[in-house]
Amino acid sequence: MHKQNRTHPAIEHEEFGASHDDGLQEQWRRVVGRRSFLKGVGLAGAAALPGSAIFADSAAADGGALSKGDVAILRLLAAIELIESDLWQQYNELGGVNGGNAAYTAALANLDGDMPQYISDNTDDELSHVAFLNAYLGSKGAPPVNLDEFRTLPSSKATGAKQTGRLTNLMALDVDTSWYVRYRSGQDPDLGAHFPQAVTIRRQPAIPVNDSDTPPANPAPVPPKNPQESRMQAIANTAGFHFAYIEQGGSSLYSIMALKATSLEVLRIIVSIGGVETNHFSLWHDKAGNAVAQPLAGVTDPRTGVTFPDLNAKGGDLNQTNLILPEPCAFLHRSLPPCSIVRPTLDQLGGAVATINSFTADRLFEGQSPKFFRTVHELAREADAASRGRV
Ligand SMILES: [Fe+2]
Ligand SMILES: [Fe+2]
Repeated sequence: MHKQNRTHPAIEHEEFGASHDDGLQEQWRRVVGRRSFLKGVGLAGAAALPGSAIFADSAAADGGALSKGDVAILRLLAAIELIESDLWQQYNELGGVNGGNAAYTAALANLDGDMPQYISDNTDDELSHVAFLNAYLGSKGAPPVNLDEFRTLPSSKATGAKQTGRLTNLMALDVDTSWYVRYRSGQDPDLGAHFPQAVTIRRQPAIPVNDSDTPPANPAPVPPKNPQESRMQAIANTAGFHFAYIEQGGSSLYSIMALKATSLEVLRIIVSIGGVETNHFSLWHDKAGNAVAQPLAGVTDPRTGVTFPDLNAKGGDLNQTNLILPEPCAFLHRSLPPCSIVRPTLDQLGGAVATINSFTADRLFEGQSPKFFRTVHELAREADAASRGRV
């Protein structure tokens, strides 16, 4: 029924063994070449070291210690990626390619038949981001980020969800949907523009909560025919808007952090991962629109009253669901021509502290400990304080 998940990188390595081996050989020659400058370390010694240690040595040979600011930026981004990974894993368990909740998957598929594939791929991407950022930090002798002690929040009790501690809570979200209007508007948030909510989503689950609320064997007709089907469709629609909300936040955060990087390599990491966050946002922006377009528009959650109206019926560019590419807007100065950009671009609107505050207002951390908030706010403050060129 669903397409297989994309090939795991480890399998690709086997399939393309010859060229991958060539790549490894080349990488190895570069590492050994650098290490030949290090006194007293022979090839046998190098081979005994794990990869990260070799990389650390080669970085040290390049004089590659990171500035305090670059470490702070990467540590904050690693924390954000851990948070993203945690929430995406919850979505993936229930509605991904191997998702265990058929009714949720069917309701998501009403937004787009490929939703399970996209959810699994987005999850893979976030896991790769956190693994890379933490490995890179370690390779530079900087401490990686570990939030395991805060995996204390309960899992959904619905069929498909693993019973394990979570960092994030997807069961009563206040989803900010103003991004939908912001990206259709010619106004720039950095120049003071404010945007209304496209859809009002308050205290609404984005994943099924338990099987008596939303039975996992239920169908997902369009439109839903009974209260349980409406409830599940409203939950799936909320997920659609939440996906885009999370990823537009990541898009601005990475853009803003890039401005603070000192090392060219750290800048390369930030813009390279940041581009994928924007790629994610663009995809989810398109899917969310299908919740508020015909034939699906008009679903109301019978428990919360959250409604997904027909935005196209409202009329106007700020509502039209297929206007998913960023409208050119004022940028830097109103005397300059409008420009299609990722926005906001200012610390106070989309920087590290602003992102944590936005996720908190989203109720993503509902139930977390004071120590969790202290930890993520400290990481965020240090990242916002980073400044390009300061060692
Ligand atoms: Fe990410
Ligand atoms: Fe992301």
